Amino acid sequence: MEVVILPGGKPLAVLAADAVEALLRRKPDAVLGLAAGSSPLPVYDELARRHEAGLDFSRARAFILDEYVGLPAGHPQAYREVLRRDFTGRVNISPENVHGPDGLAADLPAACRAFEDALRAAGGVDLQLLGLGTDGHIGFDEPGSSLASRTRIKTLLEQTRRDNARFFGGLAEVPHHVLTQGLGTILEARHVILLAGGALKAQAVRDLVEGPVAAICPASILQFHPHATVLLDEAAASSLRLADYYRHSYDNKPKWQGL
Ligand code: GLP
Repeated sequence: MEVVILPGGKPLAVLAADAVEALLRRKPDAVLGLAAGSSPLPVYDELARRHEAGLDFSRARAFILDEYVGLPAGHPQAYREVLRRDFTGRVNISPENVHGPDGLAADLPAACRAFEDALRAAGGVDLQLLGLGTDGHIGFDEPGSSLASRTRIKTLLEQTRRDNARFFGGLAEVPHHVLTQGLGTILEARHVILLAGGALKAQAVRDLVEGPVAAICPASILQFHPHATVLLDEAAASSLRLADYYRHSYDNKPKWQGL
């Protein structure tokens, strides 16, 4: 796991966008794993800017990490719609190449299986962007999630519903159920880049990077990932025991090594 600590959001976004750009130049039909939430937003802004400057997404494919159950298509907080607004609608990725779990399906387990099948048929995710919940979740894999889980329905913690209420008209409007890629699914992405900022994430970041691997902090499963990058601002990194070591490693990193 590589931990990069930088003062603010924009330089972190540039690093993540560099990784996406390098991937697309090497593999134009790459599979991108997309997370909703505020953390990846500066990355999407940077990629939209690079698209205007010529970066081509026409052959890229995208798989959305998670989705609320029961929000009507086009609902402003349905993740497919959030990601269309924040990213996919701002670059030239074909709408038919954007896949997400179907939170409106009559048969939700079948929709989860269909999503996993589509992901497998696409060859798996090349680069997965992730945020981090204050309770240590990634995707919507809440504490207690099986570390081997696949895409399935989950019930949200009240803490997560409260965290996300700011995007809705109030807590009552936040769904209780979601579909999410499992931790086992996320672990199969070839490269994972997690972004976290702000003091509210500091404890979850500590548990993720330096705690034991345990379902109480689902993100800690990334300690088993062979290529995981954790991009943090100073506040999110403020509880890390080895922060100075991570800074030292990054500052002295061989030039030829990307993320
Ligand atoms: C939601 C999403 C996650 C996201 C998390 C953190 O619960 N399902 O994918 O990482 O929120 O969101 P934010 O980046 O807005 O703090």
